[in-house]
Amino acid sequence: MEVAGPAAAALNTLTPTQIQFLESVPKAELHAHLNGSIPLPTLQQLASEYLASSSGQGAISNEAIKQGIDVLSKGPKLDEIHDFFGLFPAIYALTSTPAALARATRAVLSAFLDGRPPQCNHLELRTTPKQTDAMDREKYLRTVLAELDRYEPGQVGLIVSLDRKMSEEVIKEIVDIAYALRKEGKRIIAVDLCGDPTAGDMTKFEPYFAQIKDAGLGLTVHIAETVHNTPEETLQLLSYRPNRLGHATFLNDEAISIVLDKKMCIEICLTSNLLCKTVSNLEVHHIGQYLKADHPIAICTDDILPFKTSLVAEYALLLAKPPYGLGLTEDQVKRVGEMSLDARFR
Ligand code: IMP
Ligand code: ZN
Repeated sequence: MEVAGPAAAALNTLTPTQIQFLESVPKAELHAHLNGSIPLPTLQQLASEYLASSSGQGAISNEAIKQGIDVLSKGPKLDEIHDFFGLFPAIYALTSTPAALARATRAVLSAFLDGRPPQCNHLELRTTPKQTDAMDREKYLRTVLAELDRYEPGQVGLIVSLDRKMSEEVIKEIVDIAYALRKEGKRIIAVDLCGDPTAGDMTKFEPYFAQIKDAGLGLTVHIAETVHNTPEETLQLLSYRPNRLGHATFLNDEAISIVLDKKMCIEICLTSNLLCKTVSNLEVHHIGQYLKADHPIAICTDDILPFKTSLVAEYALLLAKPPYGLGLTEDQVKRVGEMSLDARFR
């Protein structure tokens, strides 16, 4: 995976020995979205096959797909977080059949797990089940899970994402499928709440999140991702007792004290926050307060495709000296890796 931007700048300041050290640190990737993590060559291949056979009459025009791939190839310029969500329709058109989704999943798993050395020792991949002309949501999940089965059970698990915009009917359908597949012994370990952080009313999720916890599944929610997320919404989401939190960038003091008290692990995605401009620089990033408190965190990539990063490159942002990184010691970096492994859903 090509690395660019702040993570590449951090890597460039490190010696080969330091990079080897980062590669050797035991760590887990706990926050990676499938359709945001497809290696660019795989996506380009899927696009050329799609364009060769498509009449352009689908939900998205061939021209829009070409443009989308072009933007992703160059590295998208994001002025704010909503620009980021606009990248997905083109990707979704390319992973809308079981065969294409399987290829994309295989490439994502390989990017995280097959390198020598691999990017991580453990992966929790997440994805939002979609209904398309070629598959229903159950088939979507079965297709992804079949690819996970190519790896050892302890190596990778699946988090099922619910989108903030989903109707209650779709939420119920997905949660029911997730339970049924888990009962069959499939590797569904948790549920995630994701999607446009400014959309949707969180109340509709309440009964489902309670059930999910009771059923022994993990719960992680993207929370307080933008300055527009209200303190009321944040406290509401915290009241559903999530085990882990994605981003948690804009927590007020009341929310922070709950998070610290309940030891909820924060999934930190440094490049994602910097490029989506929800955090202006590393010096003011909320990771600082959690490092000081030795509070559980996990360094994660979020979406390596648009953000052009890798897990090792995100760890470079910890080790590199300011202003390129946070200037942690090697022992501190090891501790962060350990915390990510401790926060796995089991
Ligand atoms: P998918 O669930 O495999 O389709 O992965 C892409 C989807 O993940 C996007 O359409 C978003 O809904 C979600 N996603 C990716 N990154 C973020 C994020 O930083 N915040 C909220 N949602 C995200
Ligand atoms: Zn995310």
